[in-house]
Amino acid sequence: MSDKWIKIANISDVEEDEVILITSENYSLALYKIKGEFYATDNICTHGNACLTEGYLDGNIIECPRHQGRFNVKTGKALCSPVTTDIRTYPCRLKNISDVEVNLF
Ligand code: FES
Repeated sequence: MSDKWIKIANISDVEEDEVILITSENYSLALYKIKGEFYATDNICTHGNACLTEGYLDGNIIECPRHQGRFNVKTGKALCSPVTTDIRTYPCRLKNISDVEVNLF
């Protein structure tokens, strides 16, 4: 893993059991807070052009709003039809008490 940690949010930007969209010109990420831990995945579903941040988060499972494909947020694993390709995940960490960083490696 390279040392490409970048700050993408403040700890207060995302509520417990919520997902928010983080975008820049270089990436579009879904940032989740689950049981006090942060997780990040690509925002675009691997099945089609749908935003996972507009889906339904149930525990550590995100359901795509378009065809209800499901992914494990922690592992990126595709869990049910029609999704067959895992979603990319990114390591997250807290820095300086309130900064949420991801490693885009
Ligand atoms: Fe996400 Fe089809 S676009 S399941």
